[in-house]
Amino acid sequence: MKDKITGIVLAAGKGSRMKSDIAKQFMLLGEYPVVYYSLKAFENSAVDEVILVTNESAVDYCKKEIVEKYYLKKVKKVIAGGMERYDSVYRGIMEADAPDYVMIHDGARPFLTRKMIDDSIEAVKKNRACTVGVPVKDTIKIVNCNGFGVETPPREELWQIQTPQTFDYQLICESYQKMYADKKPEVTDDTMVVEKYGNVASKVIFGDYANIKITTPEDINLSAIFLKKFLTKDVDIKNRK
Ligand code: CTP
Ligand code: MG
Repeated sequence: MKDKITGIVLAAGKGSRMKSDIAKQFMLLGEYPVVYYSLKAFENSAVDEVILVTNESAVDYCKKEIVEKYYLKKVKKVIAGGMERYDSVYRGIMEADAPDYVMIHDGARPFLTRKMIDDSIEAVKKNRACTVGVPVKDTIKIVNCNGFGVETPPREELWQIQTPQTFDYQLICESYQKMYADKKPEVTDDTMVVEKYGNVASKVIFGDYANIKITTPEDINLSAIFLKKFLTKDVDIKNRK
């Protein structure tokens, strides 16, 4: 039987670094809201179902103005997220209906491609945990509290980590439960959760330098440039019944 894959799209953040009136995940990028692009990528992929996690006050908006309006049939649930990103992820995971794998993606990363999804599925089947990322281009330094660079890790070992991040469902559930049993979880992404609490290293596969997370105001201009290029690729972004 084919493995069941559930996508979890995170759109429950406040976007405080963007300093905009409208939450960044709902800002218009070309014709569509930012979060539409990754939902549509999942719609066109081997992912079976999608759970959209958003702010409590945006649940109805998402259902009517995004899921119904753009005929996103794979989105089975729109649920409220939590305080921290990891709380939103956990709520999404708990709402999944017995999948074999979950693919967790930031709704603020619109340039998700079919290739990233397909490569992630292939890698998770072999490794139980995988993320997309890109090798860093700059030299990275550890800077101490006095502002001095004190260490320079070898650049060829450094990757910038993106989403989607894909996990064996049992592994991510068990890792999260252990994390919550810990008093002070300090994790910035889900590969850290399985690393720290599940003892599993994630396979890192090549994503795309264009797979940016829209975070600060300058990313708006950048995303407009990337959108033009993205639309020239073989992507089907048009909504239709
Ligand atoms: N996110 C979420 N629930 C949270 C926090 C973040 O679902 N409690 C989502 C965001 O909507 C975003 C993704 O996680 O799609 C990555 O988070 P980030 O870029 O940090 O977004 P925000 O937390 O919204 O932005 P900021 O940190 O600037 O407030
Ligand atoms: Mg944040």
